[in-house]
Amino acid sequence: MCEKNSQQAPKKVLSCIQPSGMLTLGNYLGALKNWVAMQDEFDCTFAVADLHAITVRQEPAKLRQQIYSTYALLLALGIDHEKNTLFIQSHVPEHANLSWLLSCNTQFGEMSRMTQFKDKSAKNPSNVNVGLFSYPVLMAADILLYKPDLVPVGHDQKQHLEIARDIAIRFNNLYGDVFTVPEPYIPKVGARVMSLQDPSKKMSKSDDNLNSWVAILDSKDDIIRKFKRAVTDSDATIRMSEDKPGISNLITIYSAVTGKSSQEVEKEFEGKGYGEFKLAVGETVADTLAPIKKKYDEIITDKKALEQLYREGAQKAERVAKKTYFKAMKKVGFVL
Ligand code: TYM
Repeated sequence: MCEKNSQQAPKKVLSCIQPSGMLTLGNYLGALKNWVAMQDEFDCTFAVADLHAITVRQEPAKLRQQIYSTYALLLALGIDHEKNTLFIQSHVPEHANLSWLLSCNTQFGEMSRMTQFKDKSAKNPSNVNVGLFSYPVLMAADILLYKPDLVPVGHDQKQHLEIARDIAIRFNNLYGDVFTVPEPYIPKVGARVMSLQDPSKKMSKSDDNLNSWVAILDSKDDIIRKFKRAVTDSDATIRMSEDKPGISNLITIYSAVTGKSSQEVEKEFEGKGYGEFKLAVGETVADTLAPIKKKYDEIITDKKALEQLYREGAQKAERVAKKTYFKAMKKVGFVL
């Protein structure tokens, strides 16, 4: 790996997150924790993917609040807006523009195979809009504009990343070298944080059962209560096993937060009961998230300061995005 201060240019990293109101422990362990860790080593660009949010119906005032809130939360997590580029996707029109060029080079059949589209359209049959269908093309544009080497995401985004790679390769083959073909960067532990109420499903804030997911901004009491209620099994040993998905999920969460291996966690809780283990996981998660919440509460009150940061972020992002976009336009044959 090449470091930020070494002779070679550092590798580039790009990732985005939807402004879905309450970001979850899954977002944190699967992606955001890595974003924070990567900023010292890489040249990072991070965005609030607000255009993606309207693939499901949104209330305008709430959406606006969620965009602010997500941007503030990224700052509270410790993403340095000076060292990195941190912006709001819709402020850089090249994302939507490039997405059109890429759409015309993406097949209907490819998009039809996307599991997230199938899941989301099955869940919400009254609003299977074209945006929901072509969402991965916009995501490919988000990525390819910044020519990243690595894209840190959780496991659920792997298929979207593969299609972004396929689109980049196809475009380059047709028109010449424009895009870098990025690699996914998926953490070994924490890439699939599961629901606390149904460990066969991923932890998601769209789950109606509020006990199934932990928000980064939840209070300590709420976090501990949710972990105490987490679904486990009738056995009593704290051990990673396919037939113990609830306990395995809690071990994974504890490992991801503490950095201990699953064997170390099993050893630490050998002979101890589920109650004690759940409480330990809850307390550790709550203690990890508490300083983030404290910082967030400070940042969110100053909308003027936030505005200055996201405007600066958009300017930085646009300089890079424009270059790639115009190169792609030129290669396709448009008159510039
Ligand atoms: P989003 O907003 O749903 O999630 C943001 C990040 O959090 C990860 N994640 C999880 N990781 C582990 N366990 C979970 N339960 C869990 N839930 C969410 C996601 O994998 C993701 O990394 N399409 C993207 C946003 C996006 C994007 C991009 C990402 C738009 N453009 C370009 C990378 C590059 C999404 O909806 O993520």
